[in-house]
Amino acid sequence: MRATTTDERTWWKRPGLGIVEGRLTIAGRDAEEMARERGTPIFVYDLERAREQAEALRGAFEAADVPATVRYALKAQREPGFLRFLRRRAPFVGLDVCSPGELEWALEHGWGPDEISYTGTNLSDRDLARILPTGCHLNVDLLSQLERVGRAAPGRTIGIRVNPRAGATHAGGGESAYAGSKPTKFGIYPERLLDAVAIARRYDLTIDTVHVHSGYLYFDDSLDAVEEVIRRVALATSSLIEAGCPIAEVNTGGGLGVPFRPSDTPLDLAAWAGIMARHLAPLGVTVATEPGEFIAKQSGVHLAEVVTVEDRDGSTFVGLDTGWNVLCEHFVYRIPFYPILCRAAGAAPVRDVTFSGHINEGPDLFAEDHPFPEVTEGDIVALPNVGAYNASMTSMHCMREPAAAVLLEDRV
Ligand SMILES: Cc1ncc(COP(=O)(O)O)c(C=O)c1O
Repeated sequence: MRATTTDERTWWKRPGLGIVEGRLTIAGRDAEEMARERGTPIFVYDLERAREQAEALRGAFEAADVPATVRYALKAQREPGFLRFLRRRAPFVGLDVCSPGELEWALEHGWGPDEISYTGTNLSDRDLARILPTGCHLNVDLLSQLERVGRAAPGRTIGIRVNPRAGATHAGGGESAYAGSKPTKFGIYPERLLDAVAIARRYDLTIDTVHVHSGYLYFDDSLDAVEEVIRRVALATSSLIEAGCPIAEVNTGGGLGVPFRPSDTPLDLAAWAGIMARHLAPLGVTVATEPGEFIAKQSGVHLAEVVTVEDRDGSTFVGLDTGWNVLCEHFVYRIPFYPILCRAAGAAPVRDVTFSGHINEGPDLFAEDHPFPEVTEGDIVALPNVGAYNASMTSMHCMREPAAAVLLEDRV
């Protein structure tokens, strides 16, 4: 086990996540006390963090002098209390939705159709029958889907999603599961744009938006790759404008990273917005962004109780009363978690341990060979930076229930 400094061990500290007298605090409250009071497993959300992140994005666009719209990707986190808070405290934030269910949820929770952008994939006629009457803006991602929308709603104004064959991720730039050298299921390729225009003409569809989403959790070292994506999208937009499409918005999708590993530093938002300003502002369009992780990830902390500490062939397993069914990012995406001992946050580690969950599957692990302080059964462990794509992807696997949520609206 490598020796570490306190700063290295507390890399996750930020406003709303701190240490008071050695104990972990969330929005100024003692994390362990909240876990004991409310029971585990539980998600605790510092909602101010979500607002701060949304404000930071808006501020970056303003500083770069780019007309912009911030929409939050609902798929990341759809807790009603989370949404009510955003609506009230960050009313400038619209929503990105990707299914009829999300669209209906967005409308039920206070957003109007004009504040919602729908970008989904593989839409059926049944999906369209639920989407089209709401009047929300729809971005279409394949030529065959354009035909389907044209048949269902001739005369409508829509957007098209393009695939720039380039992406950006936390693993570096260039390729992603959305767009890269290998064909993916998303987006119309640049050389097929005029085919898209021809289909649109046939059904009297007006194309007013260009959409791209081709990255996830990217950081400064991928900004060159982001710039290449946006450069290609700007070219696509220009060719659509030349073909007579009144493009009013370029929606740049999500993918912006927030630190979730000790080595991460916050994304340079000024540099990021500068890329948008350089390539898209000259086209006279509004630039939209629709992040999920960037707004929700840091707001959520998962708390669980240690129910097992056992040495197994030289490896110490720390078993938690939670499972991948509620905390799935590691299981599904291999995104690492960094557990914290609530009563001794930042304490020096004594050994490497492996955190496991209560689902009957071998890969139900949260962190492997993770340096950790002395831990005993009954301790409360926190997993920070899990506010996006964990609770919202909860399953009832093994008939384990969803984890409850505590939503903290202020910091004390
Ligand atoms: C179309 C679209 N927009 C936005 C997002 C949000 O992405 P992220 O949470 O990485 O910012 C996604 C995520 O899959 C997406 O598919």
